[in-house]
Amino acid sequence: MYLEKDDERVLAGEFGETRQKMMEILVTLGRVYGAEKLVAITSAQVSGASYKTIGKWGLSWLQSLNARAAVPAVLNPIGMPREGWQEFGIGEEFARRQAEVVEAYRKLGIRVECTCTPYYLRITEYGEHLAWSESSAVAYANSALGARTNREGGPSALAAAIIGKTPYYGLHLVENRRPQVVVEVECGTGPHAGHWGAIGHVAGKKVGNRIPIFQGIRPNRDQLKALGAAMAATGAVALFHVEKITPETRVFSFDTGDLDRVTVTEAEVEALFTETEVEAVAVGCPHCSADELRELAELLRGKKTTKPFYVFAAKGVAAANPDLVSVIERSGARVIPDTCMVVSPRMDEFASIMVDSGKALAYVPGMCGALARIGTRRECVEVATS
Ligand code: F3S
Repeated sequence: MYLEKDDERVLAGEFGETRQKMMEILVTLGRVYGAEKLVAITSAQVSGASYKTIGKWGLSWLQSLNARAAVPAVLNPIGMPREGWQEFGIGEEFARRQAEVVEAYRKLGIRVECTCTPYYLRITEYGEHLAWSESSAVAYANSALGARTNREGGPSALAAAIIGKTPYYGLHLVENRRPQVVVEVECGTGPHAGHWGAIGHVAGKKVGNRIPIFQGIRPNRDQLKALGAAMAATGAVALFHVEKITPETRVFSFDTGDLDRVTVTEAEVEALFTETEVEAVAVGCPHCSADELRELAELLRGKKTTKPFYVFAAKGVAAANPDLVSVIERSGARVIPDTCMVVSPRMDEFASIMVDSGKALAYVPGMCGALARIGTRRECVEVATS
């Protein structure tokens, strides 16, 4: 793999042990995947931030590093809100460990904005090369924004943040971004027609790790977010196209005539929805946009919750919308930044959780040991306030 002179010097250890280790990660990855060179990135998003997922070994590895990020970089959600973790029900020992993880990342120059929706906080442009690791953020960046990132692991995203480059392979190359399977959606007229998280949940199982192109649908940006997050969870989708909607379908003309075709039927989508009793309700997977907070505020206005109702959003998004947060919280629901229903140990305490997300439906059982039920946001509010 071709390395520039300065990169060779980093690899030789001239700029310290941590940079050397990070360069070794990138070069090894590049060799495995046949990258011809490294490419400069404009930002990184680093997963492996919750103490629940990285544990003491991950923490001690982070604490052994000594360097600073070379590009803007943010963290994935951690296991608790940084403020008010006691009220959220987090124990002292976990909070202490989680704070150490955050501090280790802060020392490495990673911005402590803990979110899977970094695109709400920093403008990411078409064609930018990134090293993002949270799967829904990767799907959104590649698909809705037309930026270019592979689905990085936590260490490779951190290495890219510190070096400011990533190996040039996979989805960084235009020729690897062509659609591989056509998806048709029978939208129908049922109560959950247009539930993009549920549609993505079904579609992800059908397309696996292929790059899908959807035809005949018109999701907006938040709906693209829900669709991609779910497909990344039930399949391994890091990029999808929607004809006439996602940016690359307007730049390139894809010939789909010879591709496999799959259909997501209304019956398959409806089959995901049940009437199971739940102990708690959690929305914001991926973290809520301002529009989603607005919708929740309207749905909750004048109502009172009867069970725990958590709304997850980036701290920056919540802070920019204090009026919406206050309407939501007047109902008894809580807007929680920095964490989410999957990576926080708080959610492990519920035996059943209702979500509005196709991704959370896939992850909550395994990650929280809870039964998961999916609904629309309106249904989530009805269940939380009935
Ligand atoms: Fe984000 Fe957590 Fe869902 S990281 S995509 S809210 S599982």
